[in-house]
Amino acid sequence: MEERGISQAVIRRLPRYYRYLGELLENGVERISSNDLSKKMKVTASQIRQDLNNFGGFGQQGYGYNVKYLYTEIGKILGLEEDHNMIIIGAGNLGQALANYAAFENRGFILKGIFDVNPRLNGVSIRGVPIRMMDELKSFVQSNDVEIAALTIPKEKAIEVANLLVDNGVCAIWNFAHTDLNLPDNIIVENVHLSESLMQLSYNISRYRQEHKQS
Ligand code: NAI
Repeated sequence: MEERGISQAVIRRLPRYYRYLGELLENGVERISSNDLSKKMKVTASQIRQDLNNFGGFGQQGYGYNVKYLYTEIGKILGLEEDHNMIIIGAGNLGQALANYAAFENRGFILKGIFDVNPRLNGVSIRGVPIRMMDELKSFVQSNDVEIAALTIPKEKAIEVANLLVDNGVCAIWNFAHTDLNLPDNIIVENVHLSESLMQLSYNISRYRQEHKQS
């Protein structure tokens, strides 16, 4: 299947398709039309058709989409058919919350290790994974085939630690620290900012209020 020049906007919508299709599968639904998928997901049917056409289209005229096939193909596009070994750097509030969330493993993101600099956390286990000190990082990363590191440390330390990770072979950073990492192009960085999502929520509240203002 060809995937030439797919926009990031389309790629960002794929996890949502994947989630909805997964729910349909769990409910025993075998096929769905783009119109029904559109009603369920609250996006237009033409948007769905356009998005999926980027990958050669999975639908058949008069039949709709085969849910299992579409789910599997989108999973492949998202790279979910392989496991990804992951570590978390920073075992504070956010790092521990991520480590406690078992569902990442169902998607193939395997939590291999958790690291911190606070000696009081040394050896504390989260879901059976012990927190280790940063001096163990180098050998751990090299011997555990770690692909992804989640950075949940103060932003002042993020760049230094990201460079250390990259020097030891980590190729993808899930960055929660509020700073740009400026890593080499071959390193994949995904920045996550919950506050941006909250600002979007705030905008939608304001817009809703304006639209429903009594005149
Ligand atoms: P926290 O203070 O509870 O945890 C930070 C942990 O990092 C501590 O355990 C500390 O010992 C450890 N740490 C500090 N320097 C380190 C180093 N060089 N190497 C390894 N570990 C180190 O903070 P919290 O609330 O968990 O937040 C962590 C980071 O995530 C902060 O930068 C915060 O701004 C950010 N954050 C980002 C969000 C987002 O949506 N992107 C949401 C919430 C927090």
